[in-house]
Amino acid sequence: MAVSSARANIALVKYWGKRESRLNLPAAGSLSLTLHALKTRTEVVLVDAPEDSLWLDGAPADAKATGRVSRFLDRVRSLAGRGERARVESFNTFPTAAGLASSASAFAALAHAASTAYGLVLDGRSLSSLARQGSGSAARSIFGGFVRMHAGVRDDGQDAFAEPLEGSVIELAAAIAIAGGTKEKEVGSTDGMEHTRRTSPYHASWLAQVERDLDACERALRSGDFEQLAEVVEGSCLAMHANAMAARPGLVYLRGSTLWALERVRALRASGVPTCFTIDAGPHVVAFTPPEYLSAVADALAAHPEIERVLTSPAGEGARAEDGLHP
Ligand code: PMV
Repeated sequence: MAVSSARANIALVKYWGKRESRLNLPAAGSLSLTLHALKTRTEVVLVDAPEDSLWLDGAPADAKATGRVSRFLDRVRSLAGRGERARVESFNTFPTAAGLASSASAFAALAHAASTAYGLVLDGRSLSSLARQGSGSAARSIFGGFVRMHAGVRDDGQDAFAEPLEGSVIELAAAIAIAGGTKEKEVGSTDGMEHTRRTSPYHASWLAQVERDLDACERALRSGDFEQLAEVVEGSCLAMHANAMAARPGLVYLRGSTLWALERVRALRASGVPTCFTIDAGPHVVAFTPPEYLSAVADALAAHPEIERVLTSPAGEGARAEDGLHP
């Protein structure tokens, strides 16, 4: 039996596109910040049963989620050369109903707990490669703080792992504006990336831009140039969405309140508050800002009627072992 935790992360330079889907290999790198407040705890118990089972926030999970976890456990079992099934139980400390992407913390915590339960001893890189096979962004949640993911070039995926980015002189926290309103089913990241790769005329230029943005983002973090950082972070987000919107049919994740929040963040920056925005595959807006500005930025984002709430978080820690499932 093993219990581990991991935190979600939000990308400053976005990941959107795979080079191979079986091993879930990214077509380009990415760069993220792990967030303390968005935590998943997962327990893996090896059982004498014919099937794996999955419990999420106290309730049995549906067949789709259970199947995805079971396929992930198959990879762990094949690495460990073992066959026992497992009972997996997982809790999130943040509202999953809000539609926040939780696959990063979920698969990072599962990779950590499952590898321990099956007796594997993996270093950070191997754990990150393993987590990547559950979800691309999970590879980054193995580590805390700023993290850079490498696309790699190998067919076996051994060089497609994340590692911590040292040397940033900028410290960031995040305010996450949760957009409510009419809920349409969004296209998930895996399907959205594949649809974009197949049909967007902008996809090749997007991938070329990611490599330039990664270097520019690292430089801005290390030199402390917030204006440069804001240009890269917002540019990466808008280019990712422009690429997805240019797919046929186009993928539009933004809503009215999303655009309102982007303008709000830019107005704050123009007034002297160092903050910049990003958006994942959904309508919520994440504003990055140094911790001393966090409450002012969060208050400014809460004013729109369709923004249900604003979560705030400092930077967070990487995946780790825990004493028990409940704190
Ligand atoms: O790891 P996935 O498959 O959930 O993809 C993440 C995609 C984005 O959140 C939109 C961007 C990113 O880099 O996290």
